[in-house]
Amino acid sequence: MDIPDHLMAEFEGGLEPQQRITTEIEAIHAEAAADPSVETQPRVNFPPYRSSLLRHPTKDLRHADPEGAEVVAPVFGHSDVDALESDLTIGGNAEPIGERMTVRGRLVDGDGHPVAGQLIEIWQANAAGRYIHKRDQHPAPIDPNCTGVGRCITGGDGSYKFTTVKPGPYPWRNHNNAWRPAHIHFSLFGTDFTQRMITQMYFPGDPLFALDPIYQSIVDPKARARLVAAYDHDQSVHEWSMGYRWDIVLTGSHSTPMEAEDQA
Ligand SMILES: [Fe+2]
Repeated sequence: MDIPDHLMAEFEGGLEPQQRITTEIEAIHAEAAADPSVETQPRVNFPPYRSSLLRHPTKDLRHADPEGAEVVAPVFGHSDVDALESDLTIGGNAEPIGERMTVRGRLVDGDGHPVAGQLIEIWQANAAGRYIHKRDQHPAPIDPNCTGVGRCITGGDGSYKFTTVKPGPYPWRNHNNAWRPAHIHFSLFGTDFTQRMITQMYFPGDPLFALDPIYQSIVDPKARARLVAAYDHDQSVHEWSMGYRWDIVLTGSHSTPMEAEDQA
C-alpha cells in the first residue's frame, strides 16, 4: 500500500495513527469472516503490518534436500543443553526485576501425540519491555540480570518448562503509538534445522491484542486465541511465582499459528 508523502506529513513523526491501522484490520477480518475457508496461519502479506508489504515472500518456497542440509547444518546433542538453561532468572549476578513466572506445556502433533526430545528456544524482552539488542534503543531500562534467552529439550511426554519474568509490552514503529502486546518468542527445531518453526506466546487479557497488527495478522479468531497462554493457578507457587500453561500443536486443524521464515 503506497501512502502519498503529503498524507504522511500530517501524521506525528511521519507515522500513521492507530485508528487507521485498526480500521484496516477490521476490514480485513470482516472480509475473512465472510469467507468459509479457515486460515490458521498468519498472513505473510498483511498491510496493517506495514513492513510485511515489502518483506513477504512473493515466490514459492524452494524445497531443500533435508539430507543435504544435514551435511552442512549445525548440530546439537542433548548433552549440549543444560537443564539450568530453562531458568532465565539465574544467569546474572542477581535475580532479574519483574513478575517471576513459569510457563509450561506440551509439544504435540496433530493427533495429540507427544513430540519428545525437541529443542525449544525462547527469547523475550525484560519486565520493562526492553531487549538487549542494538536495535532496541527506546528509553526503558536494561536489566543486566535479564538476558531474555533460554532453551530446553522436551521430555518423553512432550513437556517443557521455563522459569522467567513476565516480559513487558514495548513500542515499535509500525505506526504512531504502536505497542506490542507482551509476548515470548518460541523456536521449535523439529528433527533437523530445515524444520524450524517460530511463533509467539501471549498473555491472557492483554488490552493491546485488538490494536496489534502482528497478532491480528492471523485472521481466524480461534487460531489467534491458540497463541494465548492460560493462567494456571495450580502452577503458581505460594510467595514465589505465577504459573502459565501453553501447549503447542505442530500440525492439523488445531495447529498453533507459526511465523513465515522471513519474519523470524
Ligand atoms: Fe518481541
